[in-house]
Amino acid sequence: MNLSEIQSKTIIEPFRIRTVEPIRFTTIEQRKKLLKEAGYNPFLLRAKDVLIDLLTDSGTGAMSSNQWAGMISSDESYAGSSSYYKFESAVQDITGFKHVIPTHQGRAAENILFTTIAGFGDVIPNNTHFDTTRAHVEHNKAQALDLVIDEGRQPQTIHPFKGNMDVKKLKQTIAETGAGKIPAIMLTVTNNSGGGQPVSMKNIREVSETAKKHGIPFFIDACRFAENAWFIKTREEGYSNKSPQEIAREMFNYADGCTMSAKKDGMSNIGGFLALNDDTLAKKCRSLTILTEGFPTYGGMAGYDMEAVAIGLYEALDEGYLRYRIRSTAYLGDKLMDAGISIVQPAGGHAIYIDAKEMLPHIPPLQYPAWSLANALYLVGGVRGVEIGSVMFGLQPDGSEKPAAMELVRLAIPRRVYTQSHVDYLAETVIHAYQQREKLSGYRIVSDIDVLRHFSAKLEPVR
Ligand code: F0G
Repeated sequence: MNLSEIQSKTIIEPFRIRTVEPIRFTTIEQRKKLLKEAGYNPFLLRAKDVLIDLLTDSGTGAMSSNQWAGMISSDESYAGSSSYYKFESAVQDITGFKHVIPTHQGRAAENILFTTIAGFGDVIPNNTHFDTTRAHVEHNKAQALDLVIDEGRQPQTIHPFKGNMDVKKLKQTIAETGAGKIPAIMLTVTNNSGGGQPVSMKNIREVSETAKKHGIPFFIDACRFAENAWFIKTREEGYSNKSPQEIAREMFNYADGCTMSAKKDGMSNIGGFLALNDDTLAKKCRSLTILTEGFPTYGGMAGYDMEAVAIGLYEALDEGYLRYRIRSTAYLGDKLMDAGISIVQPAGGHAIYIDAKEMLPHIPPLQYPAWSLANALYLVGGVRGVEIGSVMFGLQPDGSEKPAAMELVRLAIPRRVYTQSHVDYLAETVIHAYQQREKLSGYRIVSDIDVLRHFSAKLEPVR
């Protein structure tokens, strides 16, 4: 028999499922009550009351049998555990950085880095700071400056690397501020707050050259480095024959260090690290690590967490996984666009970002249209997404409010968790909310706190 092999158009989940976790169905009447009790803030809902949880892709992924096996055989020694050395060598192998400081998650690495290098009057340029990154910069009395290219602020503009930094603006900033007041330049890959959009190798190289020329350290916020590598492989000339790991290594080679939340492309439920080359800076950062995290061979992690990350980092770089991962996110984006819904285009790596400003023109920015849409998705179908708009970014350091550049609802896809039929259901939910968009009202904040207020603010609908 001379049969040919199937050339399937369907990109299937590259795993089979051996452990399952039930999800709970609720009625719209129950959800109305639950949301009201949560102060109309999806962060304050109990997860058991959510059917499909797209609040974040952070720490919510499913681990592999290999990761669990590594966790069982971990070494929990306080100092010098073999799990640490496995973790250190995985990070060194992938990033090439000399010093590896484990932290309990990404923001702990940010805290250590910025407390060590930043102070009053300093400026930290980034493509777009993630909210915790911005908060740590500002907590240290420095200014967090977003220099993403103009296309990166226009949801509907198609550009292969909308996460790129505007290098001209970076040079201008250096000229105006003075290199001495810029303790670091950062690039967030992929650019989470700008729609999960990738940064090209060319841009990374140019930012690196600019930083070097002025003697400014260059750090990568590496949370989704593997997804970024996949976009470079599939979109940038000269990279299609390189493996994601080779591409990732080249990305890191241009930098002096990185902060990492292993809850994303570390495929772990918790963990992170700060990795860097400079011996003096590493020494200072390690001292602070002991103060705030733990002994430098475990930081904020258990031995089993370090095992999970050491294995997970390689799984995130697997080509079959990345092909499925990026395609399954785009599949959701395609369904929404086919229904006429505006999303940040092209689809991001870890999430789809719905443009609520476009969908809900009748809700003014400071009545939080994206917040309103996020709540509607929960009411309509038990789906939890997150606002990335004026509740998250509108509060200024001086206490005033300013509308955010974009009003987005992020539907972040946990890694290896939901199947295609879950995604079909959630597309139906978004489309159903869209069809009733004129009924949606704005919100007002009734109580908040001044740092990262979106996590705990209570709101009420504006009638
Ligand atoms: N940097 C980026 C780009 C992030 O997306 C996150 C977290 C962090 C830093 C902080 O890492 O949570 O481990 O402390 N993002 C999550 C999210 C929370 O939902 O996007 P962390």
